[in-house]
Amino acid sequence: MLEKKVLKLDKKIDQMRKRVKGVEDYKIHDEVFDRTTLLALYDLANKGAIDLLYGTIKTGKEANTFLGKRGDENLAVKIHRTGNRDYSMMMAYIDGDHRFEDIKKSKSKRIMVKLWVQKEFRNLKSASEHIRVPEPLASKNNIIIMEFLGEGDVPAPMLKNSRMEDPKEVFKKIKRDIKRLYKKAGLVHADLSEYNILMMKGEPIMIDFAQAVAKDHPRAEEFLRRDVSNITNFFQKYFKIDEKKVFNEICD
Ligand SMILES: Nc1ncnc2c1ncn2[C@@H]1O[C@H](COP(=O)(O)OP(=O)(O)OP(=O)(O)O)[C@@H](O)[C@H]1O
Ligand SMILES: [Mg+2]
Repeated sequence: MLEKKVLKLDKKIDQMRKRVKGVEDYKIHDEVFDRTTLLALYDLANKGAIDLLYGTIKTGKEANTFLGKRGDENLAVKIHRTGNRDYSMMMAYIDGDHRFEDIKKSKSKRIMVKLWVQKEFRNLKSASEHIRVPEPLASKNNIIIMEFLGEGDVPAPMLKNSRMEDPKEVFKKIKRDIKRLYKKAGLVHADLSEYNILMMKGEPIMIDFAQAVAKDHPRAEEFLRRDVSNITNFFQKYFKIDEKKVFNEICD
């Protein structure tokens, strides 16, 4: 009986493994696509959330992001690492968030990552009601599937690497989004920088919402100050900005 079950699982895993294409780095491949992750992908495929993976968008420290397909539609598939990562950092953002009170004492790493992904999904959902962010589509365990930002198969560049026609206008839009996120969605991004904003046709779009916290988090104001500081520092090379004034404009 147990043997039959294992065989069935193996079959699912094999099937899913065949649907992971275009991931050329063998080390990443073996590290990311362990049995548990392949099974979670299988479930997502079974639910019709995704057909296959066919390329790498970015391999990082916290997560690997892949290009996925559902029918003709491109998807961004972010797979959070479960192994060696900084769990105390994650705790600093989960602790103090009223939305995660019951589960924050969890000791299991897998459960922590699952929570982290659920947090990213919920944050994206709330943010999407007020600002343009990638639409979250489905999630399971350490995987989140969202709208792909890019043209054709080419992902949108990070603000850091993009060439801006009108930096002042881009800065204004980011400021507007920080304010809407704070005032309307009740969230602080908490890791905002030129790395976590993608540029689509001149429009800045915030991404990477796992660590975003609710406005009433005890450290929300500190995180908001840091976000504003990172963004103003980046734009200081284009024109002079009064950081304090920007912060007050966002809060008032
Ligand atoms: N929806 C998306 N569409 C297109 N590209 C994306 C999307 N989401 C993420 N990316 C790309 O993947 C990269 C990593 O995503 P993200 O910032 O969410 O992960 P991360 O937590 O910062 O991971 P790490 O810290 O390990 O790099 C981004 O810099 C961006 O280039
Ligand atoms: Mg990031």
